[in-house]
Amino acid sequence: MAGPSKNYSANPSKNTAPRSIRDLELAGKSIFLRLDFNVPLENGKVTDDSRIVEALPTIKYCLEKKARVVIASHLGRPEGKKTAKFSLEPVAAHLSGLLGLDVMLTDDCVGEGIELLVKTQKAGSVILLENLRFHPGEEENNHEFATQLASLCEVYVTDAFGTAHRKHASTYGVPSIMQVKAMGFLIEKELKFLEPLVKNPAKPFYAVLGGSKVTDKIKTVEALLREVDGICIGGAMAHAFWAVTNTPIPKDAKQPKLDDVEAARKILAEAKKKEIPIVLPVDTNLGFDVGPKTVEEFSKFLANGKTIFWNGPLGWFEKPEYAVGTFALAKAVSEISAVKIVGGGDTVSAVKLSGYADGFDHLSTGGGAVLEFIENGTLPGIEILREMYKRETTMAITRERI
Ligand code: 3PG
Repeated sequence: MAGPSKNYSANPSKNTAPRSIRDLELAGKSIFLRLDFNVPLENGKVTDDSRIVEALPTIKYCLEKKARVVIASHLGRPEGKKTAKFSLEPVAAHLSGLLGLDVMLTDDCVGEGIELLVKTQKAGSVILLENLRFHPGEEENNHEFATQLASLCEVYVTDAFGTAHRKHASTYGVPSIMQVKAMGFLIEKELKFLEPLVKNPAKPFYAVLGGSKVTDKIKTVEALLREVDGICIGGAMAHAFWAVTNTPIPKDAKQPKLDDVEAARKILAEAKKKEIPIVLPVDTNLGFDVGPKTVEEFSKFLANGKTIFWNGPLGWFEKPEYAVGTFALAKAVSEISAVKIVGGGDTVSAVKLSGYADGFDHLSTGGGAVLEFIENGTLPGIEILREMYKRETTMAITRERI
């Protein structure tokens, strides 16, 4: 029988894991490693290095295999212009410290000078290309720009989960062009925890949602309502739900906009139809935090959960006086024996600040990427890695038919 011995599904997309970096031959090869080093900076220093630390296993693996590592990332939104404050210089210094190795930061990410540097790069060394978004072609997914990037290296590896919802040149255009491509260990880990949220989560499956705007999350909530057994809602977004249930909103608190109230009404109606409980706060600290009774009710409701997904803080946690509810729920959730997943930059920061992060199973490196993953069950930057499999599968099926 012709074709591979492996059983492929008729529709490999979403069912077949993207190829892993473990399956690639890396020795001596130049690797275009797309990472998400879009990290917070203050006075030229990295203030939260989670995304860098999470990418280390993949970088180290490439180095152990004696590959030539060319890292590419964006930082902030410089809108296609070279802007000093968006330089990756602080990231290069930080990464160098973590690796205990020199990291060469280039002054651009494409061009003859860069091509020469990469061509003459030694095995087991790291080059960090300057901010991809200094070129408008990155966000436009310009084919010429993607081709220039793709021509730098032999192998494409991505661990930029936080940017995988963007169809940009480095996340989509480059892997469309390069034949040899795979995901790194971080994307593999993100998929391990996030895929079950959209496909057969261990039940009961509960979500905790917070933050400010319902309209930003309506598609995610609609998707969650396909799988969840209940949702606890806190933060300023709860005010829109209160408006629907005629619960008074403290006068100094954020008042919900009309479109948020309409979105909340839609969610409540859908949940009622599906008989999925939506648990709202029953007390509040001036509208900037949930009160102790709410924490107690949420904790009781979540206690028998087998999967818990949390996105959005329950209050203005950056102010210690309004962090109490979020931190108390973090403690309560950390003690539940469920698979506990936190998504979203603010929520991850809040859980870390609470001191209970160790009690969670996964703190995702994605913000918008997590929400879009839940909406669609995949992301463009992950789907494009499966392209090869789709082509191979079609060829295998055709060969079998012949
Ligand atoms: C993020 O921080 O969410 C990612 O790095 C994507 O950044 P962006 O929202 O500017 O595309």
